[in-house]
Amino acid sequence: MKNSFKNRFQFLLLGLCGLLLSTTSCQRSSNKFTDKTNTPTQSVKMSDIHSYAKPQEAVVKHISLDLDIVFSAKVLNGTATLTIEAQPDAKKLWLDTKDLVITSISSNDGPMKYTLHPADSVLGSALEIDIQPTYKKIIIAYHTQPSAEAVQWLSPQQTAGKTHPFLFTQGEAILTRSWIPCQDSPGVRVTYDAKIRTNSPDIMALMSASNPTEKAADGVYFFEMKQAIPSYLIALAAGNLEFKGVGIRTGVYAEPATLEKAVYEFAQMEQMVSEAEKLYGTYAWERYDLVVLPPSFPFGGMENPRLTFATPTILAGDRSLTNLVAHELAHSWSGNLVTNATWNDFWLNEGFTVYFERRIMEAIQGADYADMLEVLGHQDLNHTLDDFGRTSPMTCLKLNLAASQNPDDAVSDVAYEKGYFLLRFIESRIGREAMDKFLVAYFARKPFSSLNTEEFLTYLDAQIISKSAGKITLEEVQEWIYKPGLPATCIAVKADRFTAVDAVIAEFKTSKTLAKETTTKWSTYEWLHFLRSLDETTGVETLTKLDATFSLSNSKNSELQFAWYEAAIKNNYTAADVPMKQFIVQTGRRKFIAPLYKLLVEKRGLPYAQAIYKEARGNYHFVATNTIDAMLGVK
Ligand code: BES
Ligand code: ZN
Repeated sequence: MKNSFKNRFQFLLLGLCGLLLSTTSCQRSSNKFTDKTNTPTQSVKMSDIHSYAKPQEAVVKHISLDLDIVFSAKVLNGTATLTIEAQPDAKKLWLDTKDLVITSISSNDGPMKYTLHPADSVLGSALEIDIQPTYKKIIIAYHTQPSAEAVQWLSPQQTAGKTHPFLFTQGEAILTRSWIPCQDSPGVRVTYDAKIRTNSPDIMALMSASNPTEKAADGVYFFEMKQAIPSYLIALAAGNLEFKGVGIRTGVYAEPATLEKAVYEFAQMEQMVSEAEKLYGTYAWERYDLVVLPPSFPFGGMENPRLTFATPTILAGDRSLTNLVAHELAHSWSGNLVTNATWNDFWLNEGFTVYFERRIMEAIQGADYADMLEVLGHQDLNHTLDDFGRTSPMTCLKLNLAASQNPDDAVSDVAYEKGYFLLRFIESRIGREAMDKFLVAYFARKPFSSLNTEEFLTYLDAQIISKSAGKITLEEVQEWIYKPGLPATCIAVKADRFTAVDAVIAEFKTSKTLAKETTTKWSTYEWLHFLRSLDETTGVETLTKLDATFSLSNSKNSELQFAWYEAAIKNNYTAADVPMKQFIVQTGRRKFIAPLYKLLVEKRGLPYAQAIYKEARGNYHFVATNTIDAMLGVK
């Protein structure tokens, strides 16, 4: 279900690079785990090739933002004051920027000398600032450009209420540098505060920090994030937003038109936080709120600390897509407390989070429910592995990206689902009790810090493998991490609730009919399993009958719409064209639209896909256009 977009197109972008690399192993580094002749040593953290920062010389510890939101010019304008800690002999502070207009840089001693280096198309421009040992605070006056890649500026027409403009940022993976000059690496952490002026009494601002619950008459908002976080988690949203509490430390922000629906949908938030805490320890961020964004948000959800950013496409009306909330909440531990040191270690963020997400869903909905999520994830993983090819280096957990590769283009089900199945493999060998004890200790080991894959392996070896009396070996885990494909040690999956659907699917293949009574007890997931079984051979006639009985073309459940439109395109079932186009034009969620464009190119030809894209592109965030421009050959 998740990021299946990747298997269909990121492959195209990265496959070539992959072919140029070794096809049997992914990452070589001279430590205990890849060089068995070495004696175990403290692994040296790989530096982050996706950042120009040199935190070993001078590191930013705190960012204080003072920004004006200028909707009319699509500009954020103001200052970022950076508190730094420099080595005694440090002469330079190196920051990441992208498309920022820097107007001045000064310290407590007055104006400073700096160089903004030429821009790289992926990494942006290094900002090199001359520093003296006496400098503690550096004030950078700047403004963003309307094209800032992190920021999407929406017209009133692109919101639910159609009356006020909206703005949101998306930092992960390397986009924060397009709206804040910072050391934009997941291995560097800062605390932050902010003063944000929305310049309208109707526009509320929210951040991944302490948040208001009421609009401020003067449009001025203050924020504080006291825990140190990586820059990709600094986030801002502003629009005609209102708040409603769900539980004692949980609540929802949404436009007035959406708020009630959202509060209903996310009623289990409080319970999710307590189940998560029962599993892996105290929630470290005080409050857990969620903001529902306009449909152009390019992801399902983003784990901005204290405030998950979410797509409205999970508002199904029946709480059936709330595993996404469990997922983003789980990141409060895996990702936000314990962070991947570089984007090559991205699986540490997402694999652990999918495991944690499914444990929360199991606690709330039962094991039979979590089993369905697992089986769907297993299907996704297998499709992804087939698309990449099972010897592709892109199917290793530890990646080996070049600086010229945007880490976002390498995101795939591999990090999520192969990462998940590695943890399930470990669990299958040591038992759930030992697994949970290990995970509690893992999150408590060094909270608010980052680690790389090798440090994880060292820790796993010390805590589990070396004490397991051979139940699990280092070589087995290394195969999962450094070898492509899916190891034979992967657990078998099965969902009882799908076994019943499988019988229906088998029957349907010959009868070509599905009776309404058969499906009365089906949840979104049984439906999804059924819809995924439709292929090119199903035929227009059968789709017409299904549509007549179940109104699938007009489903209001985005996951079902997506699966149905895929089947419709595969079979040239043109009766679904109007709602399908509407879905593509209005939804900016990449995991839905990218595979649909890909399929449209295959089945209807490039011009057809390009025509829809022409209408839709203005609704999409950079993350989505960056992917789809490349797919459709658009400059
Ligand atoms: N952190 C990711 C979103 C992301 C990934 C942003 C890579 C930038 C680069 C988020 O937690 C996520 O995984 N979202 C999924 C949710 C799903 C797995 C339940 C999504 O958006 O579909
Ligand atoms: Zn995630």
